[in-house]
Amino acid sequence: PSNNSQTEGLLGLERGNCRAKGGSTGFKVAILGAAGGIGQPLAMLMKMNPLVCVLHLYDVVNTPGVTADISHMDTGAVVRGFLGQQQLEEALIGMDLVIIPAGVPRKPGMTRDDLFNINAGIVKTLCEGIAKCCPKAIVNLISNPVNSTVPIAAEVFKKAGTFDPKRLLGVTMLDVVRANTFVAEVLGLEPQEVDVPVVGGHAGATILPLLSQVKPPCSFTQKEINYLTDRIQNGGTEVVEAKAGAGSATLSMAYAAVKFADACLRGLRGDAGIVECAYVASHVTELPFFASKVRLGRSGVEEIHPLGPLNEYERVGLEKAKKELAASIQKGISFVNK
Ligand code: NAI
Repeated sequence: PSNNSQTEGLLGLERGNCRAKGGSTGFKVAILGAAGGIGQPLAMLMKMNPLVCVLHLYDVVNTPGVTADISHMDTGAVVRGFLGQQQLEEALIGMDLVIIPAGVPRKPGMTRDDLFNINAGIVKTLCEGIAKCCPKAIVNLISNPVNSTVPIAAEVFKKAGTFDPKRLLGVTMLDVVRANTFVAEVLGLEPQEVDVPVVGGHAGATILPLLSQVKPPCSFTQKEINYLTDRIQNGGTEVVEAKAGAGSATLSMAYAAVKFADACLRGLRGDAGIVECAYVASHVTELPFFASKVRLGRSGVEEIHPLGPLNEYERVGLEKAKKELAASIQKGISFVNK
């Protein structure tokens, strides 16, 4: 194993392990795809998170460098690097939380579904490893198309007999982060003061901001609603086009992923009242998966909030979202059972 925690390597595991075990609130977190555009800033931000005591960085390329670099940050988490498929299991053993940003991102002109052929197989392999090595871990799935990769992960876990719907969460936090930012701009408020529920899924029309439920309570003109809905649904494409072939959102995504992972860890710790939007196995609609507000706790998703009252515009959006989501979910399920 490319153990890049040099001190551990040179002086033996004793002290490093003590530190890793110290503090009853420390959690063990693995990032799969840690050397990528999202993975690197995500690894950096997780190394800064005081709730993390051990940070495993796994990728098929470049983890020794990223691990050496990040391990020099003078924060608590012990960082270890794992390179290539043969070290996947070692990377996963004992983890409390596994964050997955592995896979290819979009280029201009591509939809998230265009990534399916490559990313579906990557997610399947990684989830087989999770089922085997840390079946109780909370999984935060970032790899696109999230609308299909979460159903893929669920099928893999079902086949392995380890599926726990409370522990599998598709990360839609970036849609909420964008919605908060754009709505705050329109309202002239600080983004931190704004809370916009975004439900449905994580692609185009399936991204459904509920502008009628924004906190603090406010009202928008129809022109503002059209502008905001369009900008929130196409925020990812805005970045893909601006990057002009060099990838999709990575920095804002790493920020959003850490915000979400931190909420999951605070839930695991037992903090009360942690509520975030996520794409999960759900009975909120007739679809088997749906993004909505969920309450996070010691066992993962402890409660799924209902959608609440929707206005006519949102009801129309919901029907459109469900149609596209149903197909994406089926595509994911069929991939595993083909
Ligand atoms: P990237 O190409 O920069 O990084 C991906 C990393 O995954 C690379 O380091 C690559 O070596 C690694 N990888 C590939 N195959 C792997 C395997 N079998 N096991 C482990 N690692 C593997 O891509 P980027 O920009 O970091 O995006 C990653 C994924 O996140 C993409 O699928 C992208 O569409 C998705 N994404 C999701 C968002 C969301 O809101 N959920 C937002 C932005 C991107």
